[in-house]
Amino acid sequence: MVFLERILITAALPYANGPLHLGHIRSTYLPADVFARYQRLRGRDAVYVCATDEHGTPVVAAAEKAGLKPQEFVDGYHAKDESEFRQLGFSFDVFHRTSSVENRETTQAFYDGLKKNGFIYTKEVEAPYCTSCSRFLPDRFVVGTCPHCAAEGVYSDYCEACGRALHAGELLKPRCITCKTPPVRRTSLHYFLKLSAFSVKLAKWLGENKELQEEVVNYVSNWVKEGLADWDISRDMEWGVPVPGETGKVFYVWFDAPIGYVSSTKAWAKASGRKWEDYWQNPETRIYHFIGKDIVYHHYLFWPAMLMGVGGYNLPFAIPTRGYLNLEGRKFSKSRNWFVSLESFLREFPPDYLRYYETAITGYDVQDADFYWKDFQQKINNELVANFGNFIHRTLVLSKKICGSKVPKPEGLDARDKEMLLHLEERKESIGRLLDSIELRKAQEELLALSAEFNKYLSDKEPWKEKDAAKAGNCIYVCLRGVAALSILCSPFLPFTAKKIAELLGLEAGRPAWEDAARELLAPGAELKEAKPLFEKVGDEKVAEMEAALRSG
Ligand code: MSP
Ligand code: ZN
Repeated sequence: MVFLERILITAALPYANGPLHLGHIRSTYLPADVFARYQRLRGRDAVYVCATDEHGTPVVAAAEKAGLKPQEFVDGYHAKDESEFRQLGFSFDVFHRTSSVENRETTQAFYDGLKKNGFIYTKEVEAPYCTSCSRFLPDRFVVGTCPHCAAEGVYSDYCEACGRALHAGELLKPRCITCKTPPVRRTSLHYFLKLSAFSVKLAKWLGENKELQEEVVNYVSNWVKEGLADWDISRDMEWGVPVPGETGKVFYVWFDAPIGYVSSTKAWAKASGRKWEDYWQNPETRIYHFIGKDIVYHHYLFWPAMLMGVGGYNLPFAIPTRGYLNLEGRKFSKSRNWFVSLESFLREFPPDYLRYYETAITGYDVQDADFYWKDFQQKINNELVANFGNFIHRTLVLSKKICGSKVPKPEGLDARDKEMLLHLEERKESIGRLLDSIELRKAQEELLALSAEFNKYLSDKEPWKEKDAAKAGNCIYVCLRGVAALSILCSPFLPFTAKKIAELLGLEAGRPAWEDAARELLAPGAELKEAKPLFEKVGDEKVAEMEAALRSG
């Protein structure tokens, strides 16, 4: 029997309470998609799972503001997110939701398992309560003044103005978000997960797992050393996964959200006749969670503790964590209108432009980066269009001129020709190695280095001046091998472009595997399609327009 490497890839579940913007893509969905597409091309059993994160007080508050029921409200964002993700070519095997039956059942099963193993206890706690709305006011249901920076309209758990996390009861002049009444304190029974019981196990796991990102492990380990506080996993509200045996209590959104990775896999497995256990409970399977740097705590500590506590589950193999994307030097902010939504980007530019640019500015680390329209324009025009696109277009145009759009038969290749073919093989190997180690930017840089080498080869050889028809044909043959290889090697990064190139060459898109990239994919004599430029440059007027739109907000 052939052993098939099995890989489960997840991307952090987007909150269904607002539109996706360019930042979400950079840290999370794009890196995961490049990786997933590559793994599939390698013939590995790779499944890419995502869902909308639909519970929590921000959803309820936003739904109330929009005059909708929470379920109706999240239905809208679920459909919108999925459609935009698909337009960007994200190849999820399943895009599920945390308000699903699967997630309710799986969350309750996790809770049962944790309880059975002695990791759950209850405790009376004092919590803000609104007497006029007759409800508790967890998390974002309370606004007030930040005790640190005096900003107004700050939520009770986090100040967006100064970036500090706030403790319960710390907020000044607290008010109910709905009716503005100052809350009173009432006691309520809360459920806790004994996170403190996992300190030693977590420290060991963090220390031993060499695939985890070292810089993140370093600061997470400090939190573990300081000692982990037990975690309040229940909330007094209606919207969420009900706590079994209680009324008016649901699990905290961060309890059921990561379980969404499991429940979404279950939904996929059921629909496709597979076994979810193969992905979550077979220790041979490698699980990769792609996340942004703000949710490190939840993925490096809470989630592994939950998995350890229930038992029988694989722990994450790797948690690729990337930094934030800012917009022209400032944070993305919907309320301050400093924002480029995915929707507005996709109205103006091809999806592969965003994929190319964001991969180009994202290293294997948690450093933040900026989206600048001018930098975007430069990278697209100078790299993607002038290097990559130009080589492919020149080759096809010259194939027509010199060889009548038929793949020439190679005859007596010279040393330089052979060197180029060897290059293809080497670059395929090194790009593959980089992709396997999630060095996506470096891998894309090598892809561009490869097309630059071919551009140089073509310019040096000048086949359009060549009197010897066999020599000119050899050059075109070698360049076409390059184009065919690029169509495969670029496809994790630029899936739409890959498809276009394959069409121009008459190759079946996605059919040749990664391993075939450096082989002779086009038989001599095969007909090529009419050359068409793959890309258009981003014009100055367009950039000025996008900059103006931002600043008029
Ligand atoms: N719902 C949680 C994740 C639950 S996972 C079990 C969440 N949602 S989110 O919509 O706020 O963010 C989704 C992803 O986008 C996260 O990985 C987050 O880190 C990332 N980013 C959100 N804003 C970002 C930037 N401005 N820049 C880069 N990544 C950003 O967190
Ligand atoms: Zn109220």
